[in-house]
Amino acid sequence: MKIKLIDKKLKDIKSDLEVVFVVNKSLKHRWVQDLEYLDKTNFKGDDEEILFLHEKKKVYVGVENLEHENLRTASAQVIRQILKLKLKTFKIGLYFEKNPEEGIKAISEGFLLGAYSFQKYKSKIKKSSLKEIFISSEAYKTLPGYENKKVNIKNLEKILDESAVISKNVNFVRDIVNEAPSDLSPLEFSRIAKEEAQKNNLQIKIYGEKELKKLGMNAFLAVNRASTYPPQLIHLVYKPKQAKKKIVLVGKGLTYDTGGLSLKPGESMLTMKMDMGGAAAVLGTILTASELKLPIEIDAVIGATENAIGQDAYKPDDVLKAMNGKTIEVRNTDAEGRLVLADCLAYAQKEKFDFIADIATLTGASMIALGEYTSSVMGYNNDLNQAIINASKKSGELMDVLPFNKYLAKLLKSEIADISNISSSKYGGALTAGIFLGEFIEKKNKNKWVHIDIAGPAYKEKTWGENSYGASGAPLRTLISWLENLI
Ligand code: BES
Ligand code: ZN
Ligand code: ZN
Repeated sequence: MKIKLIDKKLKDIKSDLEVVFVVNKSLKHRWVQDLEYLDKTNFKGDDEEILFLHEKKKVYVGVENLEHENLRTASAQVIRQILKLKLKTFKIGLYFEKNPEEGIKAISEGFLLGAYSFQKYKSKIKKSSLKEIFISSEAYKTLPGYENKKVNIKNLEKILDESAVISKNVNFVRDIVNEAPSDLSPLEFSRIAKEEAQKNNLQIKIYGEKELKKLGMNAFLAVNRASTYPPQLIHLVYKPKQAKKKIVLVGKGLTYDTGGLSLKPGESMLTMKMDMGGAAAVLGTILTASELKLPIEIDAVIGATENAIGQDAYKPDDVLKAMNGKTIEVRNTDAEGRLVLADCLAYAQKEKFDFIADIATLTGASMIALGEYTSSVMGYNNDLNQAIINASKKSGELMDVLPFNKYLAKLLKSEIADISNISSSKYGGALTAGIFLGEFIEKKNKNKWVHIDIAGPAYKEKTWGENSYGASGAPLRTLISWLENLI
């Protein structure tokens, strides 16, 4: 499926179907015709209301307003319906609130992300006949301040290409997160990473059990102990010639989280194949950045392992010595992501960088704090936190800051080791997990670090907005938007 910008009036483009957005319930627009039918069918143009008029080759879709989030979700809603029809092409006008670039990006992403479905394990694959989508350069409203000026076609085409690269990679992230956990082992993860690195000319190093032992990554190794697969630390590097910044991305790659001996109840264990969502997003982001040729050096560090049970499982009451020398009292083996990340963060700080961001499906508490659709952003640098939030607002992903405080830090005190892997309080679990990670950030790097807990939006057993059932690919779009803003 390809999206093309056509420099013609909407009515002059030939296609099998025309999509018309009814914005803010307003039927007074040159593209909204068929008023008699709209009235007969009682179509009001409520947000996401859809009416197909097959004989007229038209579909009307309600959109609350022209904000990019709404254009994105309306486009996703309507393409899911269109994919069920026997059509080859459809067309739509150019909608936007502030500028056409933002509008075309939202519509394109809505179509490409909304059309996603994971069918790897279905014996009968549903194929759609849809081949091309045409976006007319004719705008729904004139550019504010430029009443007679035409839109910049070259610019819009560039944005359209960019959004196709981003969407393709979001769908790649979704694919690997959605895969069954016995198929996507740490070894399979590193095989995929190698394959993608080769395709994109990225450097890659993979460390197995022996190498991790040498590095002293005993927290990571402990989590891995009961698994039948070896741990894999995957380090990819994208090094463009004229890099303006250097960023390190660290991803939690638990290919399955049973909880370990502090076993999860059956219902909570279900969906824990998504516990490598952070790692997948980090891989997808470095691939996207290299495809877009962003002038930013990126190091992606992925800690891949299972958290399994077995004779050799690490135990609550164990004490582990992390790579940076800190000792950790294990009081709950289900708080395993922070153990893997502690070592990965220590490893990732060996070289100099401008910023370091870790991405993890870290705590259920993040969802309690902000709801299931929003990622939590934490760190000691308010400007950096805010830069991530601003990027999320541009991307259409939901994020908000959770603020650290010194009282929470005390809850991680251990009587027998340097730190406990869980808080002594049942409140503020997303924050205490974030503070735990912060203890593995070197003093000189504290203001360069940001932690993003994606436990909520990484995976849903339902469709929401532009996200289909399953993995969302979050927060790839926000990370790319943040990186683009650093240039
Ligand atoms: N992978 C889970 C967090 C999670 C929960 C992600 C739900 C997505 C959805 C993590 O390893 C975990 O189990 N965290 C514990 C921490 C607790 C033991 C302090 C949790 O959130 O309950
Ligand atoms: Zn866990
Ligand atoms: Zn986990």
